[in-house]
Amino acid sequence: MKKVIIFGASGSVGRSAIELAKANPAQFKIVGASAGSRFKGLKKTAAELNIKHVLDTRGEMTTEVITSFIAQCEPDIVLNAVSGFAGLRFTLATLESNLPLALANKESLVAAGDFVMALSQERRAPIIPVDSEHSAIWQCLINDRTEIKPFHKIYLTCSGGPFFGQTDLSTVTPHQALEHPNWDMGAGITIDSATLANKCLEFFEAMHLFEATKDQVEIVIHPQSVVHSMVQFADSSIIAQLSPPSMQLPIAYALNYPERSECGLPSPDFSALDLNFRTPDKSTFRTLQVLEHCAAHMQNLPTVFNAVNEEARNAFIRGEISFLRIFEILEAVTSQTRVKPLESLEHIYEVDQSARAMAKSLIHKP
Ligand SMILES: NC(=O)c1ccc[n+]([C@@H]2O[C@H](COP(=O)([O-])OP(=O)(O)OC[C@H]3O[C@@H](n4cnc5c(N)ncnc54)[C@H](OP(=O)(O)O)[C@@H]3O)[C@@H](O)[C@H]2O)c1
Repeated sequence: MKKVIIFGASGSVGRSAIELAKANPAQFKIVGASAGSRFKGLKKTAAELNIKHVLDTRGEMTTEVITSFIAQCEPDIVLNAVSGFAGLRFTLATLESNLPLALANKESLVAAGDFVMALSQERRAPIIPVDSEHSAIWQCLINDRTEIKPFHKIYLTCSGGPFFGQTDLSTVTPHQALEHPNWDMGAGITIDSATLANKCLEFFEAMHLFEATKDQVEIVIHPQSVVHSMVQFADSSIIAQLSPPSMQLPIAYALNYPERSECGLPSPDFSALDLNFRTPDKSTFRTLQVLEHCAAHMQNLPTVFNAVNEEARNAFIRGEISFLRIFEILEAVTSQTRVKPLESLEHIYEVDQSARAMAKSLIHKP
């Protein structure tokens, strides 16, 4: 039985993890959980499932507050399913507590990848990816359960989002962008999937998690979301991970690693399976051009990319800017940012704040 904390328990990933624990009471016991605006709902769930410790994240969330909450819960593993840059403190607090981290919050790695990976090594606290693509890559790379194997290339698959195949995105509304064809997710990541910013974040995430260079990661459009990513080895052999598009599997895999558990997912009918792969359209989905610039320089640029994207996409959700303006704001801020190394965690918070300020000034520009 694994004792689990779920940070971000009221969100899409958090609720999937709760369902998983409910369905497998002999495998998982939730010993702590957090929520913010939906804290009331979490309290109800906590009473139902006998979750002893709950954290209301609307208060000030310093790393110390989170660390002491973790200590009270005495977990075996922590799932970080908080959305956005705010998840970074939960990642740091978990690793500082020397605990394994099942990481859905990709923004931690995008904004502070070098620091997070170094802390994970220093504390011998492994990071097991929950993002379905990175879970797939992990499963391809570590299938003998010993160590990550040397690889030649990662093929990061991407559904293409709801606007795959379209070239004019000038009239896209928040309502249209919130309809993902294959996945049911929180609003932020759903819009990021429509702009392909999510794939850019995942690209940086893969570079950090698997120590890959930018040339070792290639984005491949795969509209069916059945192949969750692939890895090519020195002899040209490619290993892929396939499963129906459901977060249950990567969550269960991360929480139960290195064991595998029942997820209740159907087996594929191969005779009805039609799998396609395409090259991404960089001229329509201009986030991919911004990605090229940021990945070529790295340092502070992924932190800036993440901060600007969060601000611009939230403004789009609120109806303040158009869909295409998200691309323009990302292009403007990242191209105007001087490339500089990230010197400390405090510096990362400063870079995040100043990128947000630049993005906000462009959002509010008439
Ligand atoms: N959804 C998916 O299928 C999926 C797949 C792969 C990776 N991910 C990643 O997993 C993370 C969560 O995604 P999601 O779709 O589950 O998001 P979501 O549905 O929007 O849920 C976000 C969770 O984070 C909490 N939260 C938000 N801001 C917070 C803050 N400032 N401090 C503490 N907690 C905060 C929310 O609490 P309240 O709502 O109660 O305020 C909620 O519990 C993201 O990093 C996303 O990229 C998601």
